[in-house]
Amino acid sequence: MSDKKATLKIDGIDEAIELPIHSGTLGPDVVDVGGLTARGMFTYDPGFVSTAACESQITFIDGGKGILLHRGYPIEQLAEESDYLETCYLLLYGELPSREQKEEFVSTVHKHTMVNEQLRTFFNGFRRDAHPMAIMCGVVGALSAFYHDSLEISDEQHRQVAAFRLIAKMPTLAAMSYKYSTGGPFMYPDNSLNYAENFLHMMFGNPCEPSNISPVLAKAMDRVFLLHADHEQNASTSTVRLAGSSGANPFACIAAGIAALWGPSHGGANEAVLEMLEEIGDISHIDSFVARAKDKDDPFRLMGFGHRVYKNFDPRAKVMKQAADEVLAELGIENDPLLDIAKRLEEIALHDDYFIEKKLYPNVDFYSGIILKAIGIPTSMFTVIFAVGRTVGWIAHWNEMISGSYRIGRPRQLYTGYTQRDFVTVDER
Ligand code: CMC
Repeated sequence: MSDKKATLKIDGIDEAIELPIHSGTLGPDVVDVGGLTARGMFTYDPGFVSTAACESQITFIDGGKGILLHRGYPIEQLAEESDYLETCYLLLYGELPSREQKEEFVSTVHKHTMVNEQLRTFFNGFRRDAHPMAIMCGVVGALSAFYHDSLEISDEQHRQVAAFRLIAKMPTLAAMSYKYSTGGPFMYPDNSLNYAENFLHMMFGNPCEPSNISPVLAKAMDRVFLLHADHEQNASTSTVRLAGSSGANPFACIAAGIAALWGPSHGGANEAVLEMLEEIGDISHIDSFVARAKDKDDPFRLMGFGHRVYKNFDPRAKVMKQAADEVLAELGIENDPLLDIAKRLEEIALHDDYFIEKKLYPNVDFYSGIILKAIGIPTSMFTVIFAVGRTVGWIAHWNEMISGSYRIGRPRQLYTGYTQRDFVTVDER
């Protein structure tokens, strides 16, 4: 916090209003507008373009420079040197674990991978062609009906157990939502496998044969989870915080986050990118799609391009692109038609004045689809995988909020509807 102040002078009011300015350890200062309400005034910022909704110590982004830090550590270093569960520990507890702490953490996550048998029957209520995100919205929220011993949000121990349960059970539920669509049997987790291997085992294994998980694909999967682990106050994380601010239980809050993630402007973009590449179909059609994206009268957007915060390359996209190249090379996939379209599209957009002026760079979702497709993940599961990876970020933010001082999130509005008027009976309308 600093001693700096902003002075607000309003037409028609003699006395200027002084607003405190707070400084963080990194990033822009923030003007504290809390005192405005007493003066009968609110701030107006649709889409929270200029509004910090909370204080946080978890993740920092400098969108202009393309920097992403988790607890101070650059995402590039974590992607190279760490793994998903270690990054989970870092996000949750603020420091990298010692070897013993890591072993204990991993072993505790492994102990929570199974879901209550009764929960398995929930799936039968869904149509076989249900989108897996629709299933996830339901079954993750339903966890609150099963784990009553971790719902007391003011109890730190309950919050810990809920965190372990969510991180551990998300891959299990995600794989079940896929298996259900195939008609195949649900696979129990195999706790001798690591997090990513276990997910691939539950996705693609069957009870009649031992699973044969490729270490290359498991490593790529782990990196995808890691690159999605947290991204400060994005739409889904803010949704989790807002839901949590009312005192709702963690499973319900994460279900709210999953719902917010589903939209194509957010996590749903990875699925939309692949659909777009398929729709483009051939390199010769790219120009017409780029022209449509630039046309103000056409709602079409190039999916996987642009970001609210990044006005430079999304650092996750850089790592994801590199990982995609590595996986494709290791799998010997050199001539993938969708990949060719993606590469050409990227090249065109990076050199096009429209995209340059608006600072629209490829984001994480542009490349994640390519790598997930190479791993063999069906397109409908892309956003579910984003949700699995992001679960730790949602919990870390929820826990940070609940363990500190917080108030219910309650935005105000600029009302532009009718002024008061008298009711008219139906005969007189
Ligand atoms: N294609 C064409 N034009 C675009 C695009 C795009 N992908 N993205 C933004 N623009 C234009 C937009 O039309 C606007 O133009 P103008 O100033 O002339 O009105 C300008 O760029 C600014 O866009 P905006 O919609 O005001 O920006 P925003 O910060 O509200 O939206 C976004 C950010 C990510 C929702 C948007 O860029 C978008 O829809 N991108 C495609 C969807 C996507 O890839 N989403 C994944 C985001 S990264 C992962 C995640 O967060 O989950």
